[in-house]
Amino acid sequence: MRKFLDLLSEKMGEAFAAAGYDAALGRVTVSNRPDLCEYQCNGAMAGAKQYKKAPIVIAGEVAEKLRGSEVFSEAAAAAPGFLNLKLSGEFLAQYVMEMRRHDKFGLDMPEKPEKIVIDYGGPNIAKPLHVGHLRSAVIGESIKRMLRYCGHEVIGDVHLGDWGLQMGLVIAELQERQPGLVYFDESYTGEYPAEAPFTISELEEIYPAASARSKEDAQFKAKAMENTYKIQNGVRGYRALWQHIKKVSVADLKRNYDDLNVEFDLWKGEADVQELIPDMVENMKKGGYAYLSDGALVVDVKEESDTKEIPPCMILKSDGAALYNTTDLATILDRMDKIGPDRIIYVTDKRQELYFQQVFRCARKTGLVTPDTELCWVGFGTVNGRDGKPFKTRDGGVMRLEFLVKDTVDEMYRKITENRDMPAEEAEKTAKIIALSALKYGDLSNQASKDYIFDMDRFTSFEGDTGPYILYTIVRIKSILAKYREQGGDPAKAALLKAEGGSEKALMMQLSQFNAMMEAACAEIAPNKVCAYIYDLANAFNHFYHETKILSEEDAGRKSSLIALLVLTRDVLETCIDLLGFAAPEKM
Ligand code: ARG
Repeated sequence: MRKFLDLLSEKMGEAFAAAGYDAALGRVTVSNRPDLCEYQCNGAMAGAKQYKKAPIVIAGEVAEKLRGSEVFSEAAAAAPGFLNLKLSGEFLAQYVMEMRRHDKFGLDMPEKPEKIVIDYGGPNIAKPLHVGHLRSAVIGESIKRMLRYCGHEVIGDVHLGDWGLQMGLVIAELQERQPGLVYFDESYTGEYPAEAPFTISELEEIYPAASARSKEDAQFKAKAMENTYKIQNGVRGYRALWQHIKKVSVADLKRNYDDLNVEFDLWKGEADVQELIPDMVENMKKGGYAYLSDGALVVDVKEESDTKEIPPCMILKSDGAALYNTTDLATILDRMDKIGPDRIIYVTDKRQELYFQQVFRCARKTGLVTPDTELCWVGFGTVNGRDGKPFKTRDGGVMRLEFLVKDTVDEMYRKITENRDMPAEEAEKTAKIIALSALKYGDLSNQASKDYIFDMDRFTSFEGDTGPYILYTIVRIKSILAKYREQGGDPAKAALLKAEGGSEKALMMQLSQFNAMMEAACAEIAPNKVCAYIYDLANAFNHFYHETKILSEEDAGRKSSLIALLVLTRDVLETCIDLLGFAAPEKM
């Protein structure tokens, strides 16, 4: 379906052409003076020089041509040369009605859908998720859903950190605590137990203990490194323990992501691509890209146009060990081979900007990707506390994601049970749903690259630019529709007529922006645009709601039209929050 402003611009262009001017001058935008008009066109000012005429004269001539227009009910030239426009109510209602009939409210699908891999989440096994992982999961999930909605094939990969020192540390600690475990007996050739020798809560305690100890005890650290080497080089018992750590961790991660309504198509990790590394490195050497520098193998990635120094991309350390880089490069190779994406998107902390610049350049230079494969990086800022410093627990520790979610749910529970009776079970369920909207909206409504302050009071408020406010609006609409049904009406059958009130028209105008907003949000990979849109939409709805009698409307046709408007508003809002990764309850 054509975008609404494009349609208006086309009509305006025709009027410019009819008056003897370039049709391209007829660009129409939403008015920035809503007190004066609904839409505006500044083309007369832009054309004044070219046509050597006063802009007000051009505007006057164009306005003349718009008399009797079926699109603009009013077009007035205003000094120094604006065209102030008012929309025909019929034309607007027709467009909005059309949105209801179309799939996805009239959003056009791309001519060439892309295949996209999105790398997000990035948790490290054996380590608990912390608040930093929240952003990658929340933003990545939303980008995945948005791009899918816009017609692309999108594959989400969690890209587990499962190949690092943390496993060596956990094993070193186990060696101290349970030296008799069969895994440490290198002469053992039998099967290993299917059950891990630790539970998730033990693992949660083992890793931090081991990590702290390695900072003080050099011997312990050396042991951890040796264990890591053994895992990586396939020593049976160590591999078996690593498998246990991975399994126990992944089960816990899935539970955490489930609570966040985050879902991955692939649970691949760094370990999965290790065997691709030797050949990849060989090819980089053969191609003349990789060379030795101070014993390490590197690929130069600087370019002439660089204004700052971009250091070479290190492929192997001087001891021959692979790095974080190497694994990311091998993962690109693997994805190109098995999936063949047109685009790969990474969602990570913005401190990894230079790192990804190096990796992308290296992948391109060494031919791991085709020239038209797009490598794209979305960097996000830090979650800060109210003091403006990185978010911590009350006693200054790293905030675990699980606790942050729990605190938010508790606060929400307190709020919804404060002034009313709700059965505890229902209140708990509802609190969870609303808390998720608070967390996610609080994050997504900011531009991803910006830091933001986690403000529990503000995020969980039912007023203002918050998730709960959006949900509240949806629930309000649902409850009116339920009453309408009780009165014997059928919302699905309602037909839309032209708006009678100003706020009703404004609501329709806001709805008409949907496809343009969605297209821009996807093109710019910007979930914050969806948030801004639904905030405006919810405001437009609530304004309309306070000014309009709906259920008590006596004219049956008009009542049905108001209901049609409610249905569409609810559907658009619910679609948008689903793209942001949360849902609305039935009641709240
Ligand atoms: N595991 C990493 C971390 O916790 C993030 C991984 C990001 N993704 C990637 N392909 N490097 O910091």
